[in-house]
Amino acid sequence: MENLYKDFKGRSFLKLLDFTPEEITKLIDLAELLKTQKKAGIPHKICDGKHIALVFEKTSTRTRCAFEVAAHDLGMSTTYLDPDASQIGKKESIADTARVLGRMYDCIEYRGFGQEIVEELSDKAGVPVYNGLTNEFHPTQILADFLTIREHFGTLEGINFVYMGDARYNMGNSLMVGCAKMGMNFTACAPEKYFPESDLVTKCQEIAKETGATLNFETDPKKAVANAHVIYTDVWVSMGEPAEVWAERISDLLPYQVNKALMDSAREDAVFMHCLPAFHDLNTGVGKQVGEQFGLDALEVTDEVFESEQSIVFDEAENRMHTIKAVIAATVGNF
Ligand code: CP
Ligand code: NVA
Repeated sequence: MENLYKDFKGRSFLKLLDFTPEEITKLIDLAELLKTQKKAGIPHKICDGKHIALVFEKTSTRTRCAFEVAAHDLGMSTTYLDPDASQIGKKESIADTARVLGRMYDCIEYRGFGQEIVEELSDKAGVPVYNGLTNEFHPTQILADFLTIREHFGTLEGINFVYMGDARYNMGNSLMVGCAKMGMNFTACAPEKYFPESDLVTKCQEIAKETGATLNFETDPKKAVANAHVIYTDVWVSMGEPAEVWAERISDLLPYQVNKALMDSAREDAVFMHCLPAFHDLNTGVGKQVGEQFGLDALEVTDEVFESEQSIVFDEAENRMHTIKAVIAATVGNF
């Protein structure tokens, strides 16, 4: 293991653009190994005695829990700083926070707003920093998604991957980069104004030339999903966006809702994926309020699809923990 992971030592994990396809594969392989060990009850305290700070400027269930359980399994202590429990951004700059946390912790997770914040934290901290979601990217989610796809289809290369909905935010951007890196066929399906920004598309097209990936941008849902192995969606309004945008998003994106008719237009063995949380029914505060206001019983995905055999969203959620563990282990582990 020492030889395999020595190139990761001390590195931050901020976006997939910073990693080669071989490195991404190695992280997924390590996650798979650690998952097998955990299921077999084999301990792996390879970060024994180390400490991680978990800084959240936005809320979380999966990412926070994944980091806490992964850190515990690796033998580490955790400190959780929520948006209201620290001085970050209000009384202390990111640069100063980074230099303080870097003196006490072996690594830092950060979830927040602009990508430039996590990049600055990493520049100044002197220890590895992990991006737990920014407006632009959510790279630990993609590792989990790709482990899940590999477990299900046995490969990533050549998989026809369709992202339905707002493709210019963290999930659409990161999935496009990930698919380009791993030789997958990525399609973003939405009205044109929701396609990823052109600079990132150009970068991904360059990567795709090397890996054999293809990138497609389609406005017709039926055309987009024909032959799809994976249909993926995310919420139509992301954390930090104002509630006022719901009306426009619903009007623009309702034709891109993942429903049974859409799943039936894909390959017979197609799966449904979602980073979660999902508005598949009205059993949440926001889902109920928005659903009732606009006369809908689901938003980006119907309950029928979410609860169907084709849905692998909970395998995907579990894999957040195994893949985050791999990132921590590879970058600060004592192999
Ligand atoms: N998928 C994801 O990042 O979930 P949380 O917002 O609950 O962390
Ligand atoms: N796009 C969503 C992803 C949540 C995991 C958000 O940023 O809220």
